[in-house]
Amino acid sequence: MGRLAGKTALITGAARGIGRAIALRFAAEGADLVLCDLNLEQLGAVAAEAESGGASTLIQRVDVAQRAELQDLVDAGVARFGTIDVLVNNAGVFFNAPFEQTTDEQFDRIMDINVRGVFLASQIVIRHWLEREIKGAIVNLASIGAAVAFVDSSAYCTTKGAVATLTRCIALEYGPRGIRANSMAPGIIDTPMLPSQEDNKNWANNRIPLRRLGQPEDVADLALFLACDESRYITGEMIFVDGGWMLD
Ligand SMILES: NC(=O)c1ccc[n+]([C@@H]2O[C@H](COP(=O)([O-])OP(=O)(O)OC[C@H]3O[C@@H](n4cnc5c(N)ncnc54)[C@H](O)[C@@H]3O)[C@@H](O)[C@H]2O)c1
Repeated sequence: MGRLAGKTALITGAARGIGRAIALRFAAEGADLVLCDLNLEQLGAVAAEAESGGASTLIQRVDVAQRAELQDLVDAGVARFGTIDVLVNNAGVFFNAPFEQTTDEQFDRIMDINVRGVFLASQIVIRHWLEREIKGAIVNLASIGAAVAFVDSSAYCTTKGAVATLTRCIALEYGPRGIRANSMAPGIIDTPMLPSQEDNKNWANNRIPLRRLGQPEDVADLALFLACDESRYITGEMIFVDGGWMLD
């Protein structure tokens, strides 16, 4: 039996990259999927791939910065599958800019998607869990940027620090109700999010202790562990999935 058999997982930003890998990994472990993204066409392809392996999916175009759109998605997911058991807050954006040149618009957009999106989706899903006394699990995408500083990434690192903190607060507040929340801190993962992945590959091959760039599947395996019962006594943690980068 799959490790998520009988569970429904809501995954944001699932059209590509890490979110896509998590969706396919969860599907392979028997989960039903509620998936959202801004890119409905690419999301449809992910859903088709998951369904070809036997999963049931529901997809919707959602901007995670919009409460009404997220509420709609959760309502649709509950109507279709009965409950949501796992929430993966994966949707996120990144940009490089020197701190003094970062504009208000850039800052507001990255905060809206990377922080407000996690805040809203978590709140909506937790209300559903409290109503039904569901002991759900939240898995958030932080980053090693939540723990160390990167040049030209002040806004991004700020958002990921906020995600790690929000995760701990949720874990503390709802632990007594059996609700868990953890975050993952990936190093550099081979997805379309980052510019110059060729440079990153060369750098990783020489500098990362495990001598390679991370793959979306490396993160998806950790997400699976944090979503399923094997991690039942782990909450409020931020777990690195970085090939040992943080050691050096
Ligand atoms: N790639 C890395 O090296 C890395 C490292 C650490 C953390 N992360 C985090 O992992 C998560 C996934 O990153 P990725 O590398 O797969 O990125 P990606 O750009 O490949 O995929 C992100 C997905 O989120 C979607 N998205 C963006 N804004 C959205 C919004 N407002 N509403 C709904 N969906 C939206 C995009 O359309 C895209 O499909 C992000 O939170 C990112 O910060 C990535």
